[in-house]
Formats: sequence, structure tokens, C-alpha cells
Amino acid sequence: MKKIVILFSGEGKNLHNIIEKLHPNMCQVVCAITNKADAKGLEGLDAKYLMGIKSEVLEHTGFSSREAYDTELVKLIQSYEADLIVLAGFMRILTPIFTKNIKAINLHPSLLPKHKGANAIEESFSSEDKEGGISVHWVSEELDGGEVIAQKSFLKSEDETLESFTCKIKELEYELLPETITKILYKL
Ligand code: GRF
Repeated sequence: MKKIVILFSGEGKNLHNIIEKLHPNMCQVVCAITNKADAKGLEGLDAKYLMGIKSEVLEHTGFSSREAYDTELVKLIQSYEADLIVLAGFMRILTPIFTKNIKAINLHPSLLPKHKGANAIEESFSSEDKEGGISVHWVSEELDGGEVIAQKSFLKSEDETLESFTCKIKELEYELLPETITKILYKL
């Protein structure tokens, strides 16, 4: 069975969605790692321990540099010997220590290469773009700049609000990320 490790920082809705859709039949989520001890997504993970899913908190505070943090993070990830690492809302700028050593994909809430960075949803909503969408891409040294693997989009409606736009983005994320993980793991 293929193994994945998932990294997250906040709500962890994508993390829990992946667990629900893929674990343990399509792949084993061997560990969920967060850099935030108060990440909401940690809730409910204790119960998943019995299903073989470990959770780890590696806080970035207290490290002297991004490189020092990434060195520890890489060691932790590698200890799980996973086939693929999934960044699902992991809100960190990564150094080459991470990107050169870890084969990872990232979920981004825009149609890359448009609207890179942390405000992608707000920017694409208020842009002139006729559509919104999401991307899954390989992680590279450039923030949100690695090769795009898959995208899904929708046309903005005339009465679109930021709330309705955000909901559509989230729905697409819950479809596309598990689909893409499965395709990569089994080379579909
Ligand atoms: C998602 O919208 C993803 O596109 C972005 O961070 C968000 C994470 O949400 N990179 P959640 O923690 O999975 O609820």
C-alpha cells in the first residue's frame, strides 16, 4: 500500500477530506504534521491514531532560521518513508533544504500561474478574470511556481460574493486533491 504524509497549518479540512476519501483503501495516511500547536485540524486526529494515522506538531517558533526548521522537518518527514508528501494548507515559505529533499505537491486556490501567494482567493475574486479555480502543483523553490499537475475551474456568476466564490473553491479542492493524489500514486 502506498503511503502519504500530509502537512497542514490551520483548519485541516483538506487533510480530513483526504483521510475520509482515501484512507486506508487507496493509500495510507501515515502521518499528519503541523507547524502550529493550536491548528484546528488537529482536532479529531487522536481518534484516527487507531487507524494508523499519527500526528506530529513541529512548531517553527524557537528555530533560529527557516533552514534550521526545514532541516528538522525534512528529517521528520523522511522517517515515515512515504511515497508522496501533500501540502494541504501548510502556510510556510520553504527553503531549498525542503524542496531539494522532499517530493511534494501543493494545493493552491487559484488558476496558477495567476494569483500566487497567500491572498489568492481575494485577488482572483476581485480580478477581471471570468473564472475562478484551483491548482495542484509540484512544489519547487519558487513559491506556488512548480509545474502544474491538475486544475479545476468554474465561471463566476453574476451575483458572486466572496463567500459564494470561496465555497466553490473549497468544493473543488475536496474533489481535486484526493483525485490527483490517487493519480500520482498509481500513475493513472
Ligand atoms: C486551502 O484553501 C488551500 O488551497 C490553501 O490553504 C487552504 C487550507 O484549508 N493552500 P484547510 O486547512 O484544508 O481547511
